[in-house]
Amino acid sequence: MEKLSILVVDDEPGIRSGISRILSNHTVSFPFMDEDYGFECREAATGEEALEMIMSEQPHILLLDNKLPGMNGIELLEIIQERNLDIMVAMITSYASLEIAAKATDDGARDFIPKPFTPAELKASIDLITKQLFLRRMARGMKEEGKKIRYQFLSVLSHELKAPLNALEGFLRMMQERELGESLDEYAEILSRCQQRIEGMRLLIMDLMDFTRIRLEKREDKIEKVDLVERAQMAISTIQPLAIQKNIQISFTGEERVFMNADPNDLDIMLNNLLSNAVKYNRENGRVELEIKKMDDKAVMRVRDTGFGMSEEEKATLFREFVRIRNNRTKGITGSGLGLSIVSKLAEIYGGDIQVESKPDSGSEFRVILPGC
Ligand SMILES: Nc1ncnc2c1ncn2[C@@H]1O[C@H](COP(=O)(O)OP(=O)(O)O)[C@@H](O)[C@H]1O
Ligand SMILES: [Mg+2]
Repeated sequence: MEKLSILVVDDEPGIRSGISRILSNHTVSFPFMDEDYGFECREAATGEEALEMIMSEQPHILLLDNKLPGMNGIELLEIIQERNLDIMVAMITSYASLEIAAKATDDGARDFIPKPFTPAELKASIDLITKQLFLRRMARGMKEEGKKIRYQFLSVLSHELKAPLNALEGFLRMMQERELGESLDEYAEILSRCQQRIEGMRLLIMDLMDFTRIRLEKREDKIEKVDLVERAQMAISTIQPLAIQKNIQISFTGEERVFMNADPNDLDIMLNNLLSNAVKYNRENGRVELEIKKMDDKAVMRVRDTGFGMSEEEKATLFREFVRIRNNRTKGITGSGLGLSIVSKLAEIYGGDIQVESKPDSGSEFRVILPGC
């Protein structure tokens, strides 16, 4: 149990000790909190004394009487706000003064305890403040986590963008220094590798555009009734040229029409990514099967291939950004490692799910399940 520290500021010793006594045995627990909170009270008789105590050891919660000899409660509250101290304050007002309440709220007070109060009223106020404190800590944790993820994303992205530039620079220097001789024919291999790196970069930028689009754009206004089967047929024809190069057969099974409410662009992104993976990471003369069907009020897209497959460990990291499985077979295949992270993000936005089954060397099956039929 975590003990939150409370500083009780009141010029009446009886009230101070009464509050301390009530709260020292009080605990707060809400179903959404992992642990209970208990309380430890310190006491101050004046605003000046309280300020000194706050500066030497900052409490989590301040129970502050407004009517004090010398500096009053509001003045202390203003100092706390000026100094940007992270303390949850509840004002104790000796009479129900609306102006003081308004002023204190403006200065950041979280709650009011009008005098005289019962132990139950005091506890209710402490419960409220503890809940707010818990939520504030949680929000702060989420912000930090978000910052960390953004930072990691940008640092990997910079690396991914820099690597092809470095390669291009190296190839250009070889040509500039005529390392392979005077004839341009000698550089055919190098030129085609330059083109590959540029193509890789173009793919990365295009995936990145999808990636930022799904994160930033509100999709509600783009939702319409779409025939998923029609989008699937289109995705197949888009990927066909790539499949022909490896002599891969793509077949379609499933229903004639599956209508759902979605942004057609999102469906295209999902289908194109799953199909292009199924072709890219497939063997020569392999097969790809796309099935679209309706299951209750959900649409299912299932893409099965006869490709390289992957191990359990590889499967576990698959949906993270920039993750690519690196081995001898995937060596010459370009990609950004963003595709599946985009697909799973989209599935999540739609309240759906993505599943994968795979065996090394025998093939994989990806299933995206989307509500909205
Ligand atoms: N159908 C599949 N069969 C085997 N491996 C796959 C398949 N789909 C994806 N992968 C592996 O997962 C990695 C991540 O896929 P993805 O996020 O689409 O990125 P990219 O295709 O740009 O590399 C790929 O690099 C590949 O190694
Ligand atoms: Mg991909």
